[in-house]
Amino acid sequence: MSEARLEVERIRADFPILSRTVGDRPMVYLDSAATSQKPRQVIDAERDFYELHNANVHRGIYTLSEEATELYEDARAKLAAFVGAPDPATIVFTRGTTESLNLVAHGWGRRFLHEGDEVLITEMEHHSNIVPWQLCAAATGAKLRYLPLTDDGLLDLSDLGSLLTERTKILSVTGMSNALGTLTPLGQLVEAAHAVGAVVCIDGAQLVPHHPVDVTELDVDLLAFSGHKMLGPTASGGLYGKRELLEAMDPFLGGGEMILEVHHQTATWKEVPYKFEAGTMNIAQEIGLAAAVDYLSDLGMDAVRAYEEELTRYAIDRLLDAGARIIGPKDVSVRGGEISFWYRDVHPHDLATILNEEGVAIRAGHHCAQLVMRRFGVPATARASLYVYNTKEEVDRLIEALGRAQDLFA
Ligand SMILES: Cc1ncc(COP(=O)(O)O)c(C=O)c1O
Repeated sequence: MSEARLEVERIRADFPILSRTVGDRPMVYLDSAATSQKPRQVIDAERDFYELHNANVHRGIYTLSEEATELYEDARAKLAAFVGAPDPATIVFTRGTTESLNLVAHGWGRRFLHEGDEVLITEMEHHSNIVPWQLCAAATGAKLRYLPLTDDGLLDLSDLGSLLTERTKILSVTGMSNALGTLTPLGQLVEAAHAVGAVVCIDGAQLVPHHPVDVTELDVDLLAFSGHKMLGPTASGGLYGKRELLEAMDPFLGGGEMILEVHHQTATWKEVPYKFEAGTMNIAQEIGLAAAVDYLSDLGMDAVRAYEEELTRYAIDRLLDAGARIIGPKDVSVRGGEISFWYRDVHPHDLATILNEEGVAIRAGHHCAQLVMRRFGVPATARASLYVYNTKEEVDRLIEALGRAQDLFA
C-alpha cells in the first residue's frame, strides 16, 4: 500500500456520504465534476454558523451580526489567499461560476464592448461560458469567435494569430474542460491575449478544485469558480478580478447593500467588492467554503494534482484495456480527471443506468458542452470524474461494472 493510498483512506473517513451503499453495494461516486462531496469539516462549519452565529452581515451592530460579518469576511480573505489574489477586496462572492461569468458578460461586456469588437472563447467551453457571451454579443453588436479543438481534444492554437487580434477585447476560456478533461495552456494564452490588449477571463470551475492556481503569477484579469465543486457547499463561489477592472465594471444586480446613496432617478455604488453583492448573500455557504479551502490547503494543491494525475492515468489505462474509447487527451500531463468515454456501442444513458445498479455513479449526457459533442460527432458521453477521495479500487469497480454492461448488451 502506497503512502498516497494511506492518505486517501484518511481523507475518505472525513466524508460521511462515502460510507453509504447504493442497492447492496458500497457506493462509488465518480461524478465530482458535477458536484463534489463535502467533508465533515465543511458540514460542521455551516451547521456551526446556523447554530451559533446566524445573522445578516454588514447590518447589525450587535454581537451575532458582528460575528457573522467577521466569519464572512474571513472567508473572503481565505479564498483570496487560496487563488493568489493580492487583496480580499478583489474577491466577489457569487453563487458560483455561472453567476460569475454572467456578472462579467454583463458588468464588463455590456459596458465595454461595441460593434466590431470580438470576444474569443473556445469550442470546449461549458454553456455557462458561451451563452452569457451570446447574450452580450446580441446586446452590443460584438462578435463571438471560437478557438477550435484538435482530434485529440486539445486546443488547436495553429490559427491563434488570426483569431486573437486587436479586435479581440476579451479572451474567456476554461482552465480545464469538464467534458474532455483538457487543461488549457493558460500561460501562453494570457501572454498572447495581453499582447493584443485583451482582457483574460478564466472559467475556473474545474481548474480551481483540482490544480494549484495563482492569479497573480498567471496574471489573469478575471477568474470564476464554484465552491460546490471544491468540497464546499452549493451556491458558494466567487469571482476574482483585478481591482481596477472591478472598479471600472458596472454592477450586475441592483438592490440593497450594494448602494451608497439612492435618489429618485439615480444611485451610487459602494466600493468593490460590495457593489457586486446585492441583497442578502449566501453567507453560510461562503463560510462553509472557507472550511473547504482550509481542507484543500491542508492537503496541498500540488499533492491533490499529483494524486489525481496518478489516479487518472490508472483509470485511462484500465478503460482503454477494457475497450473504451476516450474522448479527450490521453496524456495525463495535459488533462485532469474528468474522463469522457464511450464503451462499446452502449449509449451513455444505458451505461449509466447499468452502472448505477452496481453502485457506481457516473454522469451521462452532453455535460453542458454541446459544442464538444458536435465536434466529436457524439450525442453524449459517459463521464467518470475523479477527486481526492477516489481510489484505484473504485476505478476497478467501474471496470467490473462495465463488464456487466457488456454481458447485457452482447
Ligand atoms: C467548466 C465549467 N464551467 C462552468 C460550470 C458551471 O458551474 P456552476 O454550475 O457551479 O455555476 C461548470 C459546471 O459543471 C463547469 O464544469
